[in-house]
Amino acid sequence: MYHTSHLDKTTVGNGEIIIGDALEVLPKLGDRKFQLIIADPPYFQVLLEESWDNTWKSPDDYLEWTLKWVRECKRVLRPDGLLYVFGQLGKREHVWLHTCAMLAKEMQFHDMIVWDRAVGYNERYDSFTPQYEMVLALRHSANSTPYFDKDAVRLPYEEEKIQSYLKDKRYKDKDARELHLRKGKYATNILRIPSLKGSSKEKIGHPSQKPIALIQQLILSSSRKGDAVLDPFLGSGTTAAAAEELGRQWTGIELNPDYCEITKKRMARILASPEFSLG
Ligand SMILES: C[S@@+](CC[C@H](N)C(=O)[O-])C[C@H]1O[C@@H](n2cnc3c(N)ncnc32)[C@H](O)[C@@H]1O
Repeated sequence: MYHTSHLDKTTVGNGEIIIGDALEVLPKLGDRKFQLIIADPPYFQVLLEESWDNTWKSPDDYLEWTLKWVRECKRVLRPDGLLYVFGQLGKREHVWLHTCAMLAKEMQFHDMIVWDRAVGYNERYDSFTPQYEMVLALRHSANSTPYFDKDAVRLPYEEEKIQSYLKDKRYKDKDARELHLRKGKYATNILRIPSLKGSSKEKIGHPSQKPIALIQQLILSSSRKGDAVLDPFLGSGTTAAAAEELGRQWTGIELNPDYCEITKKRMARILASPEFSLG
């Protein structure tokens, strides 16, 4: 599939888990292979107890590192692809703002998606309680037209709303109107998806595991079935799980072998589940 035979990798379902440093692995991946890249990198000194989030001496050091992997991501991204980069405010607000400004010069700013976590976190007493994270969407250049399927991520109207809209006398063809309403409405760029609580069944043992429903929205809207999706900071394999379930090829890079084991177990569960084989 890609030129990765010399890497420490395990093939699972439609994808591969590569154990290693993204900065060393990315240069070994072929040009323009991936339709979609979902990058949820270390945040820089947010998770103080995690060594992987504390390896940079200064914000500038972190920014320099970021630029290196983003340049590689740009190289492996298809011309009509999108690169999503997760970022968090809270304690490292200035670093994230500089990251966005820097990356908007390196690639073309496409959108800023707000992940509304539905509940607050990192309580602070000098301002409102933070409740959202951000996902910076980048495309190759001002002239590139990324693939994006808004219909794939429509949100259903509540039944009550449908019934009240159907009473609108301006629409003469009720059947056509109902068909239209039942397709649901377009999603906005504020994705309200509850973050995972400690007690959540989905929680699998990673401190910054993202909800699979969030990653599914990115994959469904920004890739087609069979497309290749890359996650350079795979963590507990949320991108792998979502991509596999949605019929995409995927490649995940992760530095920590323990997290790779978590992903392998997670994938084994998915591949063995009766719902998956029916789908
Ligand atoms: C924010 S977490 C990703 C969480 C993931 N989205 C999930 O849902 O589980 C970032 C991950 O990047 C990994 N990491 C840190 N530095 C890395 C590097 N240089 N190359 C590859 N992975 C790295 C960390 O071990 C961590 O698992």
